[in-house]
Amino acid sequence: MSLIKLKVSDIQQLTINIKMFELKSANDELLPSWDAGSHIDLQIGDHMRRSYSLANKPGDTERYETAILREADGGGGSKYMHDEVSIGDEFIIAEPPTNLFPLDEKASRHLLIGGGIGITPLRSMGYRLRELGADFHLHYCTKSKEETAFYEEIIEIFGVDGVTFHHDGGNPSNGIKLDDVLGAQEEGQHLYICGPGGLINAVRDAASHWQDDTVHFELFSSANSDQKSAEVGLSEKSDQPFEVELKQSGISFTVPEDKSIIELLWANNVDVMYACEDGWCGNCKVGLISGKVDHRDEFLDESDRANFIQVCVSRAMPGEKLVLDI
Ligand code: FES
Repeated sequence: MSLIKLKVSDIQQLTINIKMFELKSANDELLPSWDAGSHIDLQIGDHMRRSYSLANKPGDTERYETAILREADGGGGSKYMHDEVSIGDEFIIAEPPTNLFPLDEKASRHLLIGGGIGITPLRSMGYRLRELGADFHLHYCTKSKEETAFYEEIIEIFGVDGVTFHHDGGNPSNGIKLDDVLGAQEEGQHLYICGPGGLINAVRDAASHWQDDTVHFELFSSANSDQKSAEVGLSEKSDQPFEVELKQSGISFTVPEDKSIIELLWANNVDVMYACEDGWCGNCKVGLISGKVDHRDEFLDESDRANFIQVCVSRAMPGEKLVLDI
């Protein structure tokens, strides 16, 4: 694993609660190249790792730019970035940018829908689509013009006719009319969605008649917290304690009904990387040796579920003991 050392070279306040961070190599070297839709995993302190999408022109090896929403109720990463980080501070990323949300450059038409801070990867996609001379349009949903990050740049990148802004004043019923936007899928048209869970679910519902492999989405930030609380309400009652054995470490423990596997790993000084703590970023993936899992993540494919578990959210099925490969 090759660690990459970055330093903060610029910070700009884009809206009342969104800051843009520019990161360059701390050793004045060129950075690994990347393509539109990529993210980096910033190591924050000993245990925290946060995934941030890159927003600048894809392939820029001088700098990485990302925008971060300060989430008062989040897990602390965004508060730390907003409140504690200054120009000159250094960070580590363990690997080059990763892309879980790539453009399909063979598509004949691209429709992008971004909500709030979800604009971050879409901005980099705009640069690429313009470079390709592609046919594209962005719908950018925010509460108000003042709370719209990169407002002027987005018009510059996408063109006046290439973007439609939807400001709902905080009431989604005043926002984008999804049935109008997604009515009929044109031949070869692809859809990219990034934003809060509510927006993603609404767009996926409205696009349910679109071909599956043409709809791409990436869940972002504060939406997760909303989704998490909704899900906790459903699952708390039925959660049961279960046994976990760590094959390599030779440790066994019981996961109580109100704790996750990852919390018990930390309590036993077993280090596992994490970021979202919500089952979607993939960082806490651990090998599964035996036991039936109640998979609660949104990251693993069906084919991976027999051999892996996301230890931040998933649990054992009733009466099962899990043996993990750590
Ligand atoms: S920490 Fe993100 S999936 Fe577990």
